[in-house]
Amino acid sequence: MRPEFDCKKYFFIIFALVAGLLAFQMAIPEVSYSAEKEKKIPEPFNMVKTGESAAVVFTHTTHAVDAKIKCTECHPKMFKMKMGKTGEKNPITMAAMEKGEFCGKCHNGKDSFGTKDEKNCVKCHSVK
Ligand code: HEC
Ligand code: HEC
Ligand code: HEC
Repeated sequence: MRPEFDCKKYFFIIFALVAGLLAFQMAIPEVSYSAEKEKKIPEPFNMVKTGESAAVVFTHTTHAVDAKIKCTECHPKMFKMKMGKTGEKNPITMAAMEKGEFCGKCHNGKDSFGTKDEKNCVKCHSVK
């Protein structure tokens, strides 16, 4: 004798599977999204030197996370997304910054600490 196909039972099992899968999907993306974002934000690094000066440390987290500056405000127009690449064609100099280029776009004494004040040099040139 062929057992009768239990529609209700199978419907219930499939329903439970789909519901479980949906709940899982909804819980996961947030976790993987923030993990991916964290992975993409580089660790603090020393900038490639333009000339004679103490090396500059650039910290992504203070800019992109704490100060909430969008990646696109700095990349790719102001800074290339590759260490040392920006200065290859257009040297990153203090003179350029004083005209509002590179870090000087914001580090102008108004939006953030400026580049001319002697006591600010070490804030960026922090590696002896
Ligand atoms: C305030 C400006 C600023 C912001 C905002 C910013 N970056 Fe950068 N980023 C830089 C500078 C400066 C460099 C170094 C460029 C150079 O050396 O030519 C850099 C380099 C990089 C590099 C290359 C690192 C390497 O090892 O070569 C990556 C990747 C990067 N940034 C990703 C990001 C992402 C992702 C965001 C947004 C979450 C972001 N950046 C936001 C300024 C910024
Ligand atoms: C907002 C960050 C910042 C501040 C403040 C700053 N600098 Fe710089 N400076 C840089 C960066 C970035 C470079 C390019 C990378 C490098 O050479 O390490 C640079 C490069 C330089 C250079 C070599 C290129 C050139 O222009 O001749 C000298 C010298 C220099 N800085 C001196 C100073 C002095 C002196 C002060 C303070 C009066 C100062 N900097 C303040 C970020 C800064
Ligand atoms: C789009 C605007 C912007 C640009 C471009 C920018 N900064 Fe900043 N920076 C900020 C703001 C906003 C803060 C946090 C508020 C403050 O300290 O004034 C900050 C903070 C800092 C600090 C103190 C906190 C820390 O990270 O130790 C340093 C050092 C610094 N920036 C260096 C640099 C250097 C070097 C560059 C260029 C390679 C640069 N910034 C480019 C906006 C900017």
